[in-house]
Amino acid sequence: MTLTKAGIRIEDLHLSFGETKVLEGIDMVIEPGEFFAFLGPSGSGKSTLLRAIAGFGPTPRGRILIGDRDIAALPPWKRNVGMVFQSYALWPHMSVRRNVAFGLEERRMPAREIGPRVEQALETVGLLHLADRMPAQLSGGQQQRVALARTIAIEPQVLLLDEPLSNLDAALRVQMRRELLALQRKLGLTTIFVTHDQEEANTTSDRMAVLDRGVIQQIGTPQQLYDHPENAFVAGFLGTANILKGAMQGADFVTEAGQRLPVAPAAAPAAAPAADVNRIVLRPQNIRIAASGGDIMGTVAHREFLGSQIRYLVDTPDGQIIVDTLHSSGPPPYDEGAAVSLSIDSQSAPLLAD
Ligand SMILES: Nc1ncnc2c1ncn2[C@@H]1O[C@H](COP(=O)(O)OP(=O)(O)OP(=O)(O)O)[C@@H](O)[C@H]1O
Ligand SMILES: [Mg+2]
Repeated sequence: MTLTKAGIRIEDLHLSFGETKVLEGIDMVIEPGEFFAFLGPSGSGKSTLLRAIAGFGPTPRGRILIGDRDIAALPPWKRNVGMVFQSYALWPHMSVRRNVAFGLEERRMPAREIGPRVEQALETVGLLHLADRMPAQLSGGQQQRVALARTIAIEPQVLLLDEPLSNLDAALRVQMRRELLALQRKLGLTTIFVTHDQEEANTTSDRMAVLDRGVIQQIGTPQQLYDHPENAFVAGFLGTANILKGAMQGADFVTEAGQRLPVAPAAAPAAAPAADVNRIVLRPQNIRIAASGGDIMGTVAHREFLGSQIRYLVDTPDGQIIVDTLHSSGPPPYDEGAAVSLSIDSQSAPLLAD
């Protein structure tokens, strides 16, 4: 399939539903061929932003470019984008083949070109052998792939996917997200994938934008966002984070309760001067728990067995801190009520400033 790669550039985009501001000051550049995720909680504006790129919904203020073309004023069908909606709704009375052909017929493509295009799209998603089945005779994952074939058949420049795996069970989701990524790599198609599931975003995307309340909080690779969150929202949304308040004193971060934590200078965000630092992010797996000798004293309030890990909730003068330890075999070393001492891995604790 011959698809032209094109990047997407969004400049100072604002969007409101009536009086309600839903997107504010969105700026981002998505590279040609990139798999890019929009990640954020429910209501953060992910679908609204995706739909704005596709040309649905209220007209936003700002610019949207695909390649060199400003598409903000074009109707959806002239934008060269393919969108898979969350409810992918196949036509129940049409075969798989007819479902995929439908969009091409709508675009008034000559009949002799439609046949080969449909076959190629179905081949790409591995469903050519089921072309004559009806949607009701397919599994959920197969239906999802028909929806995808229907979209790539129109040969869009960019592919927009709004929670395309949300209707599948957990095991199928994991399998489909791998297949989706493999397909995206094969086609080299610039793709935006909307999800509220951080694992799904982490495992698929080259880069992602984290949204909260209509504002981009941070853009980067999954690992950059996890290791170097720029604010408490990103730190807490990507994985579990203990966020303690305090301030820098020399090379130490001193918590509100007066506990002194040695931190590496590299942990400080480049943009934030030490004087402005007011919080530290401690990941559960980067805290060591011992009977004594650490930086923070506490008491085990609760213990959870997670299989590969044991999670301790430890009451400390700075509030409850979550600590994860690897589990291989044998009884867990600390019981509820045990006095323990926590030490932090100074290389891995991001510092935050407001
Ligand atoms: N047609 C509409 N009229 C008014 N407000 C709307 C409309 N559509 C969406 N909104 C509001 O815009 C905000 C963003 O909605 P959006 O659908 O983009 O969220 P989302 O991040 O996709 O959430 P979810 O993960 O639940 O799908 C929400 O507060 C929502 O209530
Ligand atoms: Mg949505």
